[in-house]
Amino acid sequence: METTLVLIKPGGVQRRMIGEITRRIEQRNLKIVGLKLLRAPRSTVEEHYAEHRERPFFGSVVDYLTSGPIVAIAVQGDNAVKAIRAMMGATNPLEAAPGTIRGDFALTIDDNLTHSSSDPGAAFRELSLWFPEGILA
Ligand code: CMP
Repeated sequence: METTLVLIKPGGVQRRMIGEITRRIEQRNLKIVGLKLLRAPRSTVEEHYAEHRERPFFGSVVDYLTSGPIVAIAVQGDNAVKAIRAMMGATNPLEAAPGTIRGDFALTIDDNLTHSSSDPGAAFRELSLWFPEGILA
């Protein structure tokens, strides 16, 4: 059993996609064990994307994630990390398969609707960052 993090980015919230994304997660028989709508503090987003600090897009991705409300979701299930990554599709929506969230609803890498943890180690780190109060068992 694994737990992973999904963030619905500001564009996804603005486009009223919270329902569609949570519906797909639950329909897959994954369990939502943490869920919050928030305006992310810049410091939290900078820590979240720390591995990208030297990349040219770091500033713009931090600006974007702090530009409006986001939804943080903790998702639990068998192989949840891989299952969620596959459900979201490739980071670049142009490479995301139809049937994935990005393949169905996104067009550009800057506005790719969601973030999801890349591996179990990242999931543990990111869940501690976004759910410091803990999540439901
Ligand atoms: P995400 O999975 O949230 O992780 C980092 C984000 O940076 C990524 O999704 C994209 O939205 C954004 N980004 C912008 N340009 C790039 C790029 N060239 N490579 C990877 N991520 C990028």
